[in-house]
Amino acid sequence: MYPNADPIPLPAPVWLMKVLSLLTLALHFTALMLLVGGLFMVLLLAAGKTEAAKKAALAVAKKLPTTMTYVINLGVPPLLFAQVLYGRALYTSSVLMAAIWIAVIPLVMGCYWHLYRTADRLANGKSPIITTLVALVLAMCVGQIYSLNMTLMLRPEVWQGMYAKTATGLQVAPHDPTMFPRFAFMMLGGLAFGGVGALVVALQRGLDDDTRALLRQKGGLVASAALVPQVLAGFWVYSRQPEGVQQALHSPLYLTGAGLFLLGGVLALLLAALHIGGKKPLLLTIGAAVGGFLANVGAVIYRDGIRDQTLRLKGFDVWDRAVVPNWGVIGIFLVLFVIGLGLVGWLVLVAAQAKTIETKEAEVVA
Ligand code: HEM
Repeated sequence: MYPNADPIPLPAPVWLMKVLSLLTLALHFTALMLLVGGLFMVLLLAAGKTEAAKKAALAVAKKLPTTMTYVINLGVPPLLFAQVLYGRALYTSSVLMAAIWIAVIPLVMGCYWHLYRTADRLANGKSPIITTLVALVLAMCVGQIYSLNMTLMLRPEVWQGMYAKTATGLQVAPHDPTMFPRFAFMMLGGLAFGGVGALVVALQRGLDDDTRALLRQKGGLVASAALVPQVLAGFWVYSRQPEGVQQALHSPLYLTGAGLFLLGGVLALLLAALHIGGKKPLLLTIGAAVGGFLANVGAVIYRDGIRDQTLRLKGFDVWDRAVVPNWGVIGIFLVLFVIGLGLVGWLVLVAAQAKTIETKEAEVVA
């Protein structure tokens, strides 16, 4: 049973909280998939023996610490929205696996450290394989912990037994058939975004033609090969849901989410595949990135349906929450939110157009 106590009413309508939560979550998912996929691309590129392969691996690796800042900062808003909307479920599951949940912090720090080490090793001509693997495993552990908690919050029926077993917070939930598929879906999304990320890195100034062509070739290949396994994983997630949840997912909203995921994914696949020849396709790269993001928006809407419908069948309807809107505060928040998003976009643009120190030095010498 979900606890009844939720003494403070929501300060904004549920639909507004949800829109903001889904938007920021789609951004978080995009950043984390770029991180996981970026590490995969570094491994793939660093395995090459040519000079271009090493330069391409370095170009991707240098972007990853910045990507991690986006993973973290874009993870905080959806966490706040999820706590406000689903506190009764999320607090309980977080407490039950508290030690593992809090381990996310040192794991993220360890991952961050190894991102810097990877870029540093590549810049000094050393092998980055071990540090990249460590960063990748740590990132995947964090993702696994999120999947564990986001699944446990949907299972009030196992909470009492878990708490009776131990109150140390050192346990994960009993096996749940939906948990691994949703984790696999997210990690396979990482492959697609790793490929698209390499295409975006190829646009950066200061790279020579061979490095650029290699990034486009490998990025295009990986991104276009990743869609089919991810779609299969998505279907796996659906097939593991209880029948009642499956039926509820046939509503127009969730079908639109699934459709958007497929449409965005196919767009990203096709446009990414056009890069394999190594040509100079600025608009195609932007199109592939937009397609990937739309696919994530669709997946986030569908995932939200899985959560809401599972909770509803267990007696917790998020739309039933008491709401006492504080429109003044909401207005200020929305203005700041839009300014914040604008600043993030501007930062990404500045980073994309920045010249490397080597290019600057070469320009000064010339
Ligand atoms: C290496 C770093 C990270 C990775 C790989 C990662 C991965 C993931 C994954 C795989 C999920 C989906 C879980 C599922 O539904 O099965 C997820 C959800 C989520 N992550 Fe992250 N994450 C990272 C860091 C963070 C950080 C630092 C925060 C917050 C400060 C955060 C906040 C969230 C939230 C709030 C959700 C779910 C929100 C919701 O269901 O409404 N993540 N993350």
